[in-house]
Amino acid sequence: MKKRLEGKTVVLCVCGGIAAYKSVEVLRLLQKQGAEVRVIMTQGVQEFVGSLTFQALSGQPVFTSLFEKSDSAAMRHIDWAREADAVIVAPATANIIGKLANGIADDAMTTFMMAVRAPVLLCPSMNTHMYESRAVQRNIDILESDGCHVVEPGTGELACGETGAGRFPEPWIIVDRLLSFLTPKDFSGKKILVTAGPTQEPIDPVRFITNPSSGKMGFEIARMAEYRGAEVTLVSGPVTLYEPLNVTCIRTQTTHEMEQAVLSRFNGMDVVIKSAAVADYRVDNPSAHKIKKDSDQLVLTLVKNTDILKELGKAKTRQVLVGFAAETRDLVENAQKKVREKNLDMIVANIVGEKTSGFGIDTNIVKFLYKDGRREDLPSMLKEDVAMLLLDRVKELLPTAKRSGGQ
Ligand code: PMT
Repeated sequence: MKKRLEGKTVVLCVCGGIAAYKSVEVLRLLQKQGAEVRVIMTQGVQEFVGSLTFQALSGQPVFTSLFEKSDSAAMRHIDWAREADAVIVAPATANIIGKLANGIADDAMTTFMMAVRAPVLLCPSMNTHMYESRAVQRNIDILESDGCHVVEPGTGELACGETGAGRFPEPWIIVDRLLSFLTPKDFSGKKILVTAGPTQEPIDPVRFITNPSSGKMGFEIARMAEYRGAEVTLVSGPVTLYEPLNVTCIRTQTTHEMEQAVLSRFNGMDVVIKSAAVADYRVDNPSAHKIKKDSDQLVLTLVKNTDILKELGKAKTRQVLVGFAAETRDLVENAQKKVREKNLDMIVANIVGEKTSGFGIDTNIVKFLYKDGRREDLPSMLKEDVAMLLLDRVKELLPTAKRSGGQ
């Protein structure tokens, strides 16, 4: 797994609330991303979770009081504020939100928060009526205009028995939003459409023709583009992945559905990246009912689907158009042919069916081929790293950017 927080110090502020135990999972996920995590707890939260849990897991003393006896604790609120690369307040209670919005600094956490200059991610978590109260909403608005990034609470059944907004967000959502928040927004103002996953062509109501694409490659491109500030639309075939946050996701099944979803949105886009593994053929006249196994042979007639990418290549005006090429042999020759025939700006060529490249796995071995003949050969990389590098190259191809890159 790529560690996107390697070398970073994240201070996790845990406030008094029944959801505080979930902050332990946030801590673990931050560590998995390579972060050094330091924990500050309010007095109140220690009634819910002991500081020893956080101390043992973070491997650091937990900061709970301004008046600890040890010398090293004397200026800890200032030292930690200086050393923090990012701060997460989770759960953020109505009380801490009120104090932070109004400049109150009367304990370890609030004095630290007053001194900190690093980006702050706030995760409000409380009873629905408290969350929706004018005071809390007003204070959240103040903190947002002060530069804090607020993660919307989840909606559902709360510990108090009521149902509504106020749930502690899933820990992976908090970490994902931090990663997005910390990524420079060099695609801001750009609209990117990404396709992902396979398409399915029905044979009858219970059977279809498809391929092993998991959607991982395309979902990583969409996720990284969102991190970099793009307005992202993800048109996906049937996959079982979590939808990337803050991305418009459109689910399709057949090539025809994907074609309609993509072509109807093409005009408004700055960039289109087609990583979907689209079925080239569909069954002519699929059966309306389940086909019975009455005969020894079953002959299906397949008819050609529209080549969506080729249609985009014809319609292209200012858009940067990126295709993928999945090949089992003659990778470069076949990919070069696709660049020419589909009028692409670049193509990502990958050999499929290898141990560390292709369908279903987290890594890929790709080559970037450009329409001017340049080529970059890359080693086995995580798909999220391929996605980041691809976006770097796409940025260089955008009309306003100075052209360079490649080898
Ligand atoms: O989803 P994963 O499990 O992570 O796997 C990733 C991947 C292997 C699917 C991905 O890296 C990849 O190679 N995607 C392209 C697969 C493919 O369909 O390649 P192709 O060479 O058949 O098609 C060339 C290009 O034309 C592709 O951009 C494809 O989206 C597009 N195409 C193809 C046929 C068609 N009818 N319409 C299209 O738009």
